[in-house]
Amino acid sequence: MKSIAIAVAFLVVSLCQFQILAQTPQTPTTSGGNDLISKTCSSTSYSEMCKTILQSSPNSKGADLYGLAQIVMNVAADNVSSIYENINQLQNGTSVDSFLDSCLTDCLESFQDAIDQIEDSVTALEFKAYNDVKTWISAAMSDVATCDSGFKEKQGYQSPIAQMTSVFDQICSIILSINQLLSQGNTN
Ligand SMILES: *[C@@H]1O[C@H](CO)[C@@H](O)[C@H](O)[C@H]1NC(C)=O
Ligand SMILES: *[C@@H]1O[C@H](CO)[C@@H](O)[C@H](O)[C@H]1NC(C)=O
Repeated sequence: MKSIAIAVAFLVVSLCQFQILAQTPQTPTTSGGNDLISKTCSSTSYSEMCKTILQSSPNSKGADLYGLAQIVMNVAADNVSSIYENINQLQNGTSVDSFLDSCLTDCLESFQDAIDQIEDSVTALEFKAYNDVKTWISAAMSDVATCDSGFKEKQGYQSPIAQMTSVFDQICSIILSINQLLSQGNTN
């Protein structure tokens, strides 16, 4: 009887503590806001792009480091699909030039792989499998580089999607940096 009473008392106290913890207002240093965004982005190689992406997302307000990683990951997923669509359209317009045409065909293949790898990264991030995130993001970056280098094999040609792929590459690099912080156990 006595031990049950103690157990109940303990449970009540525990629940109260939990309540208190849950209600503690979150300070800017532990979550969300521009402090966390600035701090996080300063550890990436493209801090301006990082800040632009995060500040323009309504979800970044109140987000922790993991939440910020998810935002950039979603941007990468949108990006890779829309680049694929762009290549598709470009190819439609340039089928006269057989070299360009074959490069674009290779690029579609590379970007299909990159789309799959970004999907795998999204899933890996959901499971907080940070090593897998690193693996898949790196693979996507390498596929995109393969696409770009194809155009350089013939003189006088330039990748018509160089600008887009460079932005995508930077987004991936930002994800790798934030993922690195997460894998080191940082939560804020
Ligand atoms: C990729 O994302 C960046 C950052 O949001 C954006 O500026 C760029 O237009 C996107 N590119 C494509 C092809 O959607
Ligand atoms: C290719 O171009 C034609 C003519 O502009 C258009 O009708 C067709 O929908 C385009 N296809 C794709 C896949 O964009």
